[in-house]
This record gives sequence, structure tokens and C-alpha cells, in this order.
Amino acid sequence: MKIAIVYNRPAETGSENWQSSQDVLRQVEAVEQAMGELGIPHLALAFDRDLGKFLDGVRREKVDAIFNLCESVDEDARLAGHPAAVFELAGLPFTGSGSLALMLTTDKLLSKHQLKAAGLLTPDYLSYGGEDPATLSDLTLPAIIKPRFEDASIGIDQESVVRSRQELFEKLPVFYHQYGPLLVEQFIAGREFNISLFGYPAPRVLPPAEIDFSTFPRELHRIVGYRAKWDENAFEYHNTNRFFPANLPPDMASELRRVAAAVFDLFLLRDYGRIDVRMDEQGRIHVLEANANPCLSPDAGFVAAAEQDGMNYTDIVSGFVTFLSARSQP
Ligand SMILES: Nc1ncnc2c1ncn2[C@@H]1O[C@H](COP(=O)(O)OP(=O)(O)O)[C@@H](O)[C@H]1O
Ligand SMILES: [Mg+2]
Repeated sequence: MKIAIVYNRPAETGSENWQSSQDVLRQVEAVEQAMGELGIPHLALAFDRDLGKFLDGVRREKVDAIFNLCESVDEDARLAGHPAAVFELAGLPFTGSGSLALMLTTDKLLSKHQLKAAGLLTPDYLSYGGEDPATLSDLTLPAIIKPRFEDASIGIDQESVVRSRQELFEKLPVFYHQYGPLLVEQFIAGREFNISLFGYPAPRVLPPAEIDFSTFPRELHRIVGYRAKWDENAFEYHNTNRFFPANLPPDMASELRRVAAAVFDLFLLRDYGRIDVRMDEQGRIHVLEANANPCLSPDAGFVAAAEQDGMNYTDIVSGFVTFLSARSQP
């Protein structure tokens, strides 16, 4: 089986959010290396709006299956699911979630509607599409403003957290101008966990990871914003380490696993996923978001959870190839 590692052509260094965009190249490199070790014939193919060129490449190289690392198309996060739709149309087996799951989870507002309808807890919210903020209904504050369609904490940092209605009203038009449609979510102040899952046809829940905010000074909101994820010079980058809590109370551990597995099923995720949650003062788990096809960089949360479960990077890639083979059977 010859596998094409397909990735979105990233933004140039220095352009907006280039760090998160170029991270895909580290994933390509890591997957290529693992495939080399596994002796799997492979090549890397960039994906952009030039579909003709992409499909020519697939034909010319006699590609049998795709390792899908596309996180957007031409920097548009709303198109995160569209490469998968092309693979589906072309009849090419590919790793990770199908287009529907990717599209559903890219829209944080639709995701919340679905979570609520399924009886899963998610923070209360408002959606904002550029109207007069004074017409919005009430929401318990503090709240956090998030872009409806972004990922990787793009558009989320300390200034996203608002404590008063006046602050919210002032900021909404500014954020809207920069990021388009927004969500305003009730701020859940408690512990943050990321739960990864891996496996096909049924996923296994990997050990839950928690974010360590213990070194945050009181005046900083405990969030994993853009600086925490991507700016090596920022305080938050060095003070939001993930760890795998050894002594979670059994009830809490099983609730985290239950919620993560339910979210994986709800959004039709396939092969792998990472669910971000936070706990409120009553110990209830609120789902922040489902990440279909989470980042596969060697230092990313999904990879750390798989390693915690005893796999190395090559084992992970080998797992994906096994899932692919299971789906390519006639
Ligand atoms: N309702 C919320 N309450 C508290 N913190 C939040 C909330 N929503 C988001 N955050 C913080 O912002 C981070 C990024 O938000 P998330 O919804 O996971 O979007 P992204 O897709 O950008 O990762 C979270 O990891 C968390 O630290
Ligand atoms: Mg997240």
C-alpha cells in the first residue's frame, strides 16, 4: 500500500498565526520518519484549492490511501473537512475522521447545539454575529469570547475573558471585526482535562491529561490561549504543562472517560480524537470542544496520551495504517 501524507500548504513565516499554521510541517516530518521506519512506501503531498493538480499527483504516484494531516485549506479553518470530502469523492481510504465529523466539530456553535441535545454538559453561551451587543440576552459572567470557527486557540488569550457586560459590549465588535462570528461562553474556572481516544472500529480512551496552572499568578486567567500554545517567549507557554494525574478519584476518572467516549460517538469521530473539558465548582464536566483529527506533532497532547498508554510515535502511525487497511478491504 502506497500512502500519501496529505497536508494543507501552511502560511508563510511572519504572517498571521504562522506558528500554528506551520506546525503541520512538523507532523508531516514525524509521520514520514515513522513510515520510513515501518518500511511503508509513502510521499508527502500538499493540498490547496488546486484540486486538479492534487488529483493528478495522486494518479501519477499511484497512491492507494491517504494519511490526512489537513487542518484547513489555504488558511481557512472552515474548510478543515473539505479535503476529507474530496478523498471520499475520489474513493480514497484515508486516516482520521470523515468530512461530516470534521465539518461538525469545526463549527463550535453547531457543536454546542448537538452536545446539549445529547444531554452532555457544555458551558452556557451566546452567539454573536455582528448585531448590536445591547440586544443580546443575559449570560452569567465572567465569560470568554471565542471565534466560532477557529482552532488552536486562535483568537483566544487573556483579553478574551470579560468580567462585566460593559467590557463584553466593547470587545464583541472588535473581536468580530478580526475573527468573524463569535461565541461567548460562561467561564468555567476549574480544572482542565484533555482526553484522547484512539482505535478503529471502536476507540480506546487514553489516560486523561490535565493542565497544570499552579504557577499562574492570581491576576492571570487560567486558560490555554494562543500564547500558551505557540509563543515560546510567553509566560503561559512555559506554565501550562500537561501532566497525567496519577490519583484521580475513580468516579471522576470514569466520568471523564464516559463523557469523552460519548462526545467521540456523538460527532462521528473515527480513528482518533481529543476532547477538551473543564470542571466546575460542583465537579461537573463541561465539554469545551471535540477535536476531530487532533494535532499529531511529537509534542502534542494526543501523542503524549498515547505514549502514556505505552505507545511510541511509530506505534501510533502503525496503528493508523492498520485502521486504513481494515477500511481498504474489498
Ligand atoms: N468556557 C470556558 N471556560 C474556561 N476556559 C475556557 C472556556 N472555553 C475555552 N477556554 C480556554 O480556552 C482554551 C481554548 O478553547 P477551546 O474551546 O478548546 O478552543 P480551541 O479550538 O482554540 O482549542 C481552552 O483550552 C481553555 O483553556
Ligand atoms: Mg481546544
